Amino acid sequence: MYSIDDNEVIEIVGKEKLEGELIPQGSKNGALPLIAASIVFDYPVKLYNIPNIEDVNILLSILKYINCKIKFENNELSIDCSNLDKYEIPWELASKMRASFDLLGPIVFKFSKARIPFPGGCLIGNRKVDIHLYAAKQLGFEVEINKGDVFISNFNKSKINKVINFWIPSVGATKNVVFLAAFAANIINDEILVNNIAVEPEVIKLFDFLISNGFNLEYSIEKKYLKIKPFKLKNYNYYEDFNILDRIEAGTYILAALATKGRIFVKENSYFKDYFKLYLTLNSLLNVLKQIGFKVEIYNDGIYCGYEGDNLKLDGDLKSIDIETGYYPEFPTDLQPQIVALALSINGISTIKEKVFDDRFIYVNELRRLGADIDVIDNKIAIVKGGRELSGAKVIATDIRGGAAILIASLIANNTSVISNIYQIKRGYENLINKFSNLKAKIKLRFNKENEVYGYKY
Ligand code: EPZ
Repeated sequence: MYSIDDNEVIEIVGKEKLEGELIPQGSKNGALPLIAASIVFDYPVKLYNIPNIEDVNILLSILKYINCKIKFENNELSIDCSNLDKYEIPWELASKMRASFDLLGPIVFKFSKARIPFPGGCLIGNRKVDIHLYAAKQLGFEVEINKGDVFISNFNKSKINKVINFWIPSVGATKNVVFLAAFAANIINDEILVNNIAVEPEVIKLFDFLISNGFNLEYSIEKKYLKIKPFKLKNYNYYEDFNILDRIEAGTYILAALATKGRIFVKENSYFKDYFKLYLTLNSLLNVLKQIGFKVEIYNDGIYCGYEGDNLKLDGDLKSIDIETGYYPEFPTDLQPQIVALALSINGISTIKEKVFDDRFIYVNELRRLGADIDVIDNKIAIVKGGRELSGAKVIATDIRGGAAILIASLIANNTSVISNIYQIKRGYENLINKFSNLKAKIKLRFNKENEVYGYKY
């Protein structure tokens, strides 16, 4: 069930071919852990390339609540947490965004305890935190759940297990365990080993950021392990760093352009080490696009993706899709809804299997309102009968990436679509209307009229 919480809607006139250039935003999922991590330092931190989106602003409101000084403009964020004074986060702040749970580890590192609301589920599945809590117990902390909060406290070094084995390479648990283990390693003056960690680029960037600030981490991307050793924090006067580019935002626009049989050049004049470059972080998507029959070319200043069928007068030149999502570097679950939308524009039967989340197809009902013919089996696999005409309708953005898929489907539908609950899309996509307009989409933001918005109960 989700409710409408927006009085703005996005209006799209479909069937326009998207063509043009995209400059990707700073990564949402890269920015959030860097911001959370910055609270452990007693000196000012400046982060560049931070997207001005809802999720970032919600996390910053929590940092202000715990008495951090914040200055955020033109995608540059200055944080000074030298006067941090609270280890508890209130429900009314934390409940707006699950990623507020990224603060658990940093707050424990700083105060040896933390009280943070148990993160709610959301529209893509359970979103459990049992691995986070298992890691805290293995590292000698007491874990209590009361009145809806997770309370981590009473560290006891005699209870530490120096080897922790994750049963899922959880991104969130990997981000938190770094700090919990760093706290424990310093007390026992010994090394902690965590096996089966997440190795998403956003996690690796967090590791590199922490290492630059004194953390003694050794990680293997191939073997998916992290060693945390005793260390001393640096006593810099000041530290600055760059957030990596948003591979999911870039992938979303690539899929939107190709769904309209258009073309896009994603600029990448970033100065990051190769592991963070989009042609590598999007490798699994680019390989799928080549298999389908799109043109994909890598340049040193960006990536070109285009539908060349019209020019080559190839009939039925696009192959339908058969993919499954997985943990990095497999196909990203955060592009699953968007590639389902692309499949709607490709003749034939496509199958997309979701292997990371247990309920990530709720957006499909809204695609059906546009005329999409999709079966979802056991909430695990979508079977898309592509190549059929879609017709514009009033639709609701169910969640951040489901909302992006609904927007893509609206771009390929006949006539006009009106998307409400667009807060969900704005959570992850900066400058959305301008970026799509620059790609020649007929899209605008406007206030809704009373009969356009409905609250559909799932
Ligand atoms: C992060 O979520 C991202 N969010 C998600 O992106 C992304 O989909 C996900 O990683 C997977 O890549 C941010 O970075 C803010 P997980 P997170 O812990 O950390 C299960 C977006 O669209 N699990 O890797 O919550 C869990 O239920 C968002 O930007 C446990 O069972 O993801 C899920 O099925 C959506 N126990 C799977 O693991 C745990 O303790 C992956 O979860 C933790 C997770």
